[in-house]
Amino acid sequence: MKLGIIIGATREGRSTDRAATWVAEAAKKSGFDVKMLDLRDYDMPMFNEPASPQYNPDRAPEGAVKQWLEAVGDMDAFIIVTPEYNRSIPGVLKNAIDFIAYEFERKPIGIVAHGSSNGAQAVSHLRGILPGVLAVTVPRTVFLPVARHAFDEDGVLNEELAANPYGPIGALDAMLGDLTAYTTALNTIRQ
Ligand SMILES: Cc1cc2nc3c(=O)[nH]c(=O)nc-3n(C[C@H](O)[C@H](O)[C@H](O)COP(=O)(O)O)c2cc1C
Repeated sequence: MKLGIIIGATREGRSTDRAATWVAEAAKKSGFDVKMLDLRDYDMPMFNEPASPQYNPDRAPEGAVKQWLEAVGDMDAFIIVTPEYNRSIPGVLKNAIDFIAYEFERKPIGIVAHGSSNGAQAVSHLRGILPGVLAVTVPRTVFLPVARHAFDEDGVLNEELAANPYGPIGALDAMLGDLTAYTTALNTIRQ
């Protein structure tokens, strides 16, 4: 099961990559073949195509957009790791989603969010956005405080959060359980 972990923030000094490192370690232990999809590696323009990608059979993506679509298309499942910016997701993440045509279709996506209010509104917006690109979000979610405080630079969760029996470790474990089941089920219906 090929799992793409999307790092949904690109700003200088970001901390979303710390949370993504933590997610990747747990996902590998759950048996996923993990590939990091860091939006910094896909330097795409603002979406500017003449038609919605799902209604544009003549589309011929090039450059970073082509690389992004090929990388995403190769995956069976995703975890999007995102901060909350201004009560939503970062523009760079929304822009990357806007380029997708059918590469997410019938694939499961787990969400890991962080922020001053634990990313609640970023999660709510993503759950509204992702059906537009035909993806299926799994029910369980991981809500984290600001990643710069929750993790060290190597993506190690701080002791207080790690010791909380109702904290992020259990939440991530439960979400990975959902993702395993949904990946198996959706791989079957995509065949
Ligand atoms: C432009 C901007 C807007 C933000 N808006 C919110 C917000 O609306 N709600 C919230 O809970 N946190 C907000 N935050 C805090 C971030 O979610 C938090 O600092 C997060 O850890 C930043 O991730 P990053 O370091 O990867 O950019 C905002 C941060 C930035 C930079």
